[in-house]
Formats: sequence, structure tokens, C-alpha cells
Amino acid sequence: MTSADPSPARPWALLAELTHACPLHCGYCSNPLELTRRSHELTTDQWTDVMRQAGELGVVHTHLSGGEPLLRRDLEQIVTAAEAAGIYTQLVTSGVGLDQARLDALASAGLRSVQLSVQHADPRASDRIGGRRSFAEKERAAQLVRAVGLPLGLNVVLHRENLDAIDTIVELGVSWGADRVELANVQFYGWGLLNRAALLPTREQLAGARDAVERWRKRLNTGPELVWVVPDYFDGVAKPCMGGWGAVSLTVTPDGTVLPCPAAAALPGLDPPNIRDRPLDWIWEHSAAFTRYRGTDWMADPCRSCARRDEDFGGCRCQAYALTGDAARTDPACRFSPDHGVIRVPADEGADATAPVRRRVPGRSEGAATWV
Ligand code: SF4
Ligand code: FES
Repeated sequence: MTSADPSPARPWALLAELTHACPLHCGYCSNPLELTRRSHELTTDQWTDVMRQAGELGVVHTHLSGGEPLLRRDLEQIVTAAEAAGIYTQLVTSGVGLDQARLDALASAGLRSVQLSVQHADPRASDRIGGRRSFAEKERAAQLVRAVGLPLGLNVVLHRENLDAIDTIVELGVSWGADRVELANVQFYGWGLLNRAALLPTREQLAGARDAVERWRKRLNTGPELVWVVPDYFDGVAKPCMGGWGAVSLTVTPDGTVLPCPAAAALPGLDPPNIRDRPLDWIWEHSAAFTRYRGTDWMADPCRSCARRDEDFGGCRCQAYALTGDAARTDPACRFSPDHGVIRVPADEGADATAPVRRRVPGRSEGAATWV
């Protein structure tokens, strides 16, 4: 498809960021640096309508995410609305605040699966990375999810502090009865870019972790599926971010802003639409935010004349902007990018073990970005 096509394919996935409030303070948080205040969040009725419109648009799968979506007291109603719209719901949670009564209510409302974040297999390291004591609650949450019979996934963001622990992380997934363990190398935009100096692994760490994953894949016959989300900085290959801009998925943020990806709010001049002002089908098909980088017509060289342009879509627009100041340039992760040095140099230099991790202030989980 090119951006000249009048009618884009329908989206099938919705990332519903229900709130930016969160009990954890991870230094690689995928939330934007500017967090939405709770008083600006969409109401229950508005989220219900988002689900209705998304179902009509063709969405079949939603991640109910945050922040911590369990902090929304109306989460059960939002799940009910998604279920009524024919949308499969996966709860993406830290596990903090999930008890038997809440899980029973969510399962009754139609929740289909749970993805639990874990920061490390070692409880103290997990708590340290998350910026709060939470490992025991995660373990309890995993037990509850298995007991109620819902599919359980673990999501572990990988970086310098835990890449050497793949063996124990996989063992944790096995012992907690996970169906899937997602080993997601950290992405360096937003908070991740802010903390890049502290999070960057070494090439040796990555090679060792890759080998460990391969060993476990051969060894696990019935255990959890292992998903390895490739790192951006080390292979010279751009990833097909979000499956292409405005191609398969959309994000609705806590205040109703609709974006092609969760980090896109940082792009200048995007003028992102809001679900309070426009219907979702118009936003998907006609808004400038969704059409600007859709397809391949917007590309300049080297992407324009590259054989891979229909496979990786020129990489990530948010990373291109964060590292070059121009969202329309080739993603510097690509070895053909004239800007590739801005990634290769820090990747070669590795992390600064003395760099502090800057976090959302403990005890505060909303408002403008502040850190310690
Ligand atoms: Fe992908 Fe562009 Fe790199 Fe080609 S030049 S591999 S299309 S990012
Ligand atoms: Fe926005 Fe990649 S994170 S396009």
C-alpha cells in the first residue's frame, strides 16, 4: 500500500492506555515523559464507546495497559465493553493490586488473558529495577491467573541489569506456569532514551543472552513459548515498528488522544486527534497523524530506493525523530542510514555503570515528568 491509496487496511489491534498512574517506577517505562493526569482520563462511558467504535472498525485484539490498568476502578466495565464489541482482551499488568475478587470479576466480564511484567528472576533485583517492592505480589498474581485458568504471559524488558539472567528468568517462567515468556530488549525512546547510558548492554551480554534463549528453545518441549524481541542498537537492522505506521494498530492514550504508536505524541507538528472530537474511523482513515507516514510515498533515500522498504517501512519514526530531529529520515538503527553512527557509537561504547536511573518520582505517578 502507498499513502496515495484512498482506503487503508483496517486495524486489528488496539493499545488502550487506560491510565498513566502506576505503582512501579521502571527506568525504561514506555509512557511518555509528559504523563496524563488522572483528572484528564477518559470516563467509563468514553472508553465504552472507544471499544464499540474499535470493534466496528475491525479491531479484534486489545491490550488493556497503562501505567497500571488495575488502578482504573471501572476496568471490569471496560472489559465488558470490549467483549460486547467482539474484541479479545489481554490485561497488561504489574500484578500489583490483583487479588482473587478482582480477577474473578475481570474473568466474569470476559477477560481472555493476562500479561504480567517481571523485572528479574531475583526478587531483590526485580524490586530494585521496578523501584518498589513488588515481586511477591507478582508471584501471587501469577498463581491466581493460573488458578482461574487464564493464559499467562510474562514480559521481561531486558537491559544491562538482567541480560545475564536469562536462565533464571526462563526457569521462573516455567515454575510460574507461564504459557509465554516475552524477552523484550529495551527500546530507546522516551524514558529508555533518557536512561540509555544506564541501560545499554554490551555486545557480549546480548550474544550470551541470545545463546541462552536458543539453548532453552531446544530444551523446552512443552514449556512456555519464548519470544525474543530483537534489540535495536546492535544488528544494523531497522525493525518494522508497529507493523508499519497506521497499518495494523492504533493507540488510545488516557486522555483520548489517538496515535499510530504510543510514543508518537512526542513528534512535533503531528496534531494528534482526540476521540472526544472525532470518530475513530475518520481518525484512522483521514487524520494527518495517521496518513503522514503511512505506506512508502513519504520516504526519501535510502529507504525510497531500498528493496526492504515494504518489509520494515523505514523503521521507527519516533526513533528517527529522537535521534536526528527529523521523523521522516531513515531510522538510524539501519546500517544504510547516513545517521547510523548515532547508534553505533553508543552501542560500541556500552553502558556507563555509574549513570543514575532517572524515574518518575516514587509516590507520584502523574503530572509532568520529574525524576530522581
Ligand atoms: Fe529499511 Fe530504509 Fe534501511 Fe532500507 S534503507 S533497510 S527500507 S530502513
Ligand atoms: Fe513510534 Fe516506532 S515507536 S513509530
